[in-house]
Amino acid sequence: MCDSITLYGVKKVYDSRNGPVHAIGPADLSIRKGEFVSFLGPSGCGKSTLVLMVAGLLPPTEGEIRIDGVVVNEPRTDVGIVFQTPVLVDWRSVLGNVLLQVELRGLDPAQYRAHAVELLESVGLGEFLKQRPYELSGGMQQRTAFCRALLHDPPIVLMDEPLGALDAMTRTRLRDDLEKLWLGSPKSVLFVTHDISEAVQLSDRVVVITPRPGRVEREITVDLPHPRDFDVRQSPEFLGYVKDISDIFMQYGVI
Ligand SMILES: Nc1ncnc2c1ncn2[C@@H]1O[C@H](COP(=O)(O)OP(=O)(O)OP(=O)(O)O)[C@@H](O)[C@H]1O
Ligand SMILES: [Mg+2]
Repeated sequence: MCDSITLYGVKKVYDSRNGPVHAIGPADLSIRKGEFVSFLGPSGCGKSTLVLMVAGLLPPTEGEIRIDGVVVNEPRTDVGIVFQTPVLVDWRSVLGNVLLQVELRGLDPAQYRAHAVELLESVGLGEFLKQRPYELSGGMQQRTAFCRALLHDPPIVLMDEPLGALDAMTRTRLRDDLEKLWLGSPKSVLFVTHDISEAVQLSDRVVVITPRPGRVEREITVDLPHPRDFDVRQSPEFLGYVKDISDIFMQYGVI
């Protein structure tokens, strides 16, 4: 399998009023086609910075990012992005929000309507197509944002703590939804989180990032069957991964 996203010595130093802030790097890393990779690290270690750089929304200070071999030096339109908050527009229905993805790209929404409905049905929102976002719960809004990110079938999806703003129960449900969506149509996913078991449940590989300036401390391949349902999550193997990663963060005094 070939690489989808590659980072070569990527580093970001921000200029701030208090002087330079070394956020992340240098980092070298590859994400293969169809691979789900989590970036797991404490607050402030540069995770969002990394997502913005891969999306082409922020230039690295040093190094280079390539997607399918092409250097990222402008915003990429072929990636799907999900942020911590759903960023939906209140003047459009749920379906209308999902279709916004293709309308903004100048594509014909009529051609994508059936797929949008199918995606929304797959995450339990089939009966809410005509509702407005403010009529939905936070979890339902974030499911809508997932569907919007996936509608144009992007080969790459970037997710910056997409479950971070949700309560624990909703979070658990949405993890399962995310896993289901990914299994239904595998993409290269760069998923940012500071939740250890979330990373282990979803990922083929977990990249453990140190406190700022974020560096790749360890890459851990999670060799467990999908879907990682309740039974898998209670297995000694799953809990072993969680413990190994927790030990790393304990050494850094993060937990
Ligand atoms: N525009 C900016 N200007 C200056 N410093 C910045 C800027 N954006 C981020 N930083 C700094 O860079 C560091 C990394 O920030 P970033 O948002 O990437 O972290 P994060 O890992 O996403 O944290 P969190 O888990 O809290 O979202 C922080 O110290 C932050 O203060
Ligand atoms: Mg962040």
